[in-house]
Amino acid sequence: MVQVKDTSDYPYLISAAVSSIGLLVLQIFWYFTNPLRHIPGSWAAITSRLPLFYESFSGNRAQWIIEQHKRYGPVIRIAPNKVCVASDEGVKSIYSNKTMKSTAYDGFRYHDVKMCIALRDVKSAHTRRKGLLPAFSHQNLVEMEPVIRFHLERFLGWLEKFSDSGEYIDCFKWFRYLTFDVVADLAFGQQIGWAIPVHNPAAEDNQSTNSNMLSELETVGLVPKRNDRPRVDILARLEEVAVKNPKEALSPEEIIAEMMEVLNAGSDTTANTAMFASYELATRPDVQKKLHSELAEAFPDPSEPLTFAKLSQLPYLDGVCREALRIHAPIPSYLERLAPEGGLTIANTFIPEGTIVGMQAYTNHRDPNVYPDPLGFSPERWFDPTPEMKLNFLPFSAGPRSCIGMNLGNMQLRIHLGHIFRAYEVVCPPQTTPDSMAHVEFFTIRPKSGACDLYFRKRKE
Ligand code: HEM
Repeated sequence: MVQVKDTSDYPYLISAAVSSIGLLVLQIFWYFTNPLRHIPGSWAAITSRLPLFYESFSGNRAQWIIEQHKRYGPVIRIAPNKVCVASDEGVKSIYSNKTMKSTAYDGFRYHDVKMCIALRDVKSAHTRRKGLLPAFSHQNLVEMEPVIRFHLERFLGWLEKFSDSGEYIDCFKWFRYLTFDVVADLAFGQQIGWAIPVHNPAAEDNQSTNSNMLSELETVGLVPKRNDRPRVDILARLEEVAVKNPKEALSPEEIIAEMMEVLNAGSDTTANTAMFASYELATRPDVQKKLHSELAEAFPDPSEPLTFAKLSQLPYLDGVCREALRIHAPIPSYLERLAPEGGLTIANTFIPEGTIVGMQAYTNHRDPNVYPDPLGFSPERWFDPTPEMKLNFLPFSAGPRSCIGMNLGNMQLRIHLGHIFRAYEVVCPPQTTPDSMAHVEFFTIRPKSGACDLYFRKRKE
C-alpha cells in the first residue's frame, strides 16, 4: 500500500529551522562582538542568561558562582553581560564612590517610592544616607539597648516554658518574630508583639515572609504614626533631620519607605544570623561550652543584666558572631555595580566601563588561603585576624553603599546570643540536619527546609 505523507507541517518546520539558524548566527555574532569576550565563563553562561536565571530562581546562585570561579578563575562571566570577581582586589574598586548600582536594584520600592537601597546613583544615595545615618549613631545605639533587652527578656520568659515542657522551637520563625518586634520598636516605637509568650494568631498566620508581616502591619494601621511614641526612635531622628536641615529632609512618603526598609533589612538578616549561629553551636557542644564559660565568667550572677558594654568585650562571643556572619552571610551573593568611567582592571583583567560587575561574600568568605578550613566554625580564628581576613570579611558589603544598620545588627547579635547562651544549653533534634539547614538564597538566605528546630534547655546554676 502506498503511504501518503502529510506535508501540512512543512512550512512550520521550515520557519522553525530558519529561526534556529538565525538565532545561532546572532549568538555567534554577539559572541565575537561582545567587549567582554576576553573574560572566561562556561559556554552556556557567556552565550545566554538562562543559567544565571535558573540558578537564581532555584536559590542556588551563590554556590553555582563559586563552582564557576573554581573552573574559570577569579574574574569570570556569569551571563553574557555580567562579570563576577573573586579577587579581593575588587573590594575597593567595585564598591567605591565611582561605581553606581545596576538596574537590578530598581525593584526595592514601597508603593513606588524608592528605598535607600534602590537609589542607584552615588549622589542621591549619599543624600538619603546622610538623613538616615544619624539614627544609627553610637549615642542612639546606647539608647536602643534597653529596648533590645526588653524584648529579649520577654522572649526568654517564653523560652523557659518550652524548656520546662521539653519542646523544641523553630528558630527560623521565632527569631524573626523577635527581631521584628525589636526593629519595629526601635524604628517607630510600636510594640508589635509577634514574639510574646501568648498564642499570637496574627503571627501564626504570617509564618513565611516578612512581606506578609509588612502588609499585615499596614492593614492594621501600624505604619508610622507621629503621636504617642514613648521615646526617641529612628523615625524621630529622621524628623529631627527634617527640622534641623530641611534641605536634606525626606518626604513623608520617603520616610514610610525607609521605615519599611529598616523593618525588612533589619529583621531577617539579624534573625537568620542568630539562628545559624545557634544551629552551629547546637551541633558543636565543645564550642558552645567555651562560649558559655566565657559568659558565665563575665556575668557570674545570672540575674545580673548582660550589658552590651561588657558583651562587646568578650572575644569568644565576638568570634562566634563573626563565624556565623562569615559562613552564613545573610546577603551572600552577587551585589551588582556598573564599572566606572575608564573601566576597571582587576586580577590583570580589563572590565570595560558600564559593565555589570560584582562580587559575592559567599566566595571570599570561603577562600582557604584567607580562612584555612573555611567551613570549620572556629571563633578562635578571630582573636588575631590577619589584614586579609578583615579585607575579605564582607557580610555587610563594603564602601559607601555598605549596610547602614551594621552597628545595630552587630549589637543585636551579641545581646541575643549572649543572653540565650548564658542561660540555656541549645541542642539539635534529629530533624535539624546539615541537609535541612543547607542554604537557599533569594537575596537573603534561609534554611532549605524552611525551619530550624532546636531545643533550649535552661541551665541549672
Ligand atoms: C546581621 C545583620 C545585617 C546584615 C548582614 C546586613 C547586610 C547588608 C548588606 C550586605 C547590604 C548591602 C546590600 C547591597 O549593596 O545590595 C545592606 C544594606 C542595607 N542595610 Fe543591612 N544588614 C544587616 C542589618 C541591618 C539593619 C539592622 C538595618 C537597619 C535597621 C539595615 C539596613 C540596611 C539598609 C538601609 C541598607 C541599604 C544601604 C544602601 O543601599 O546604601 N541592615 N545590609
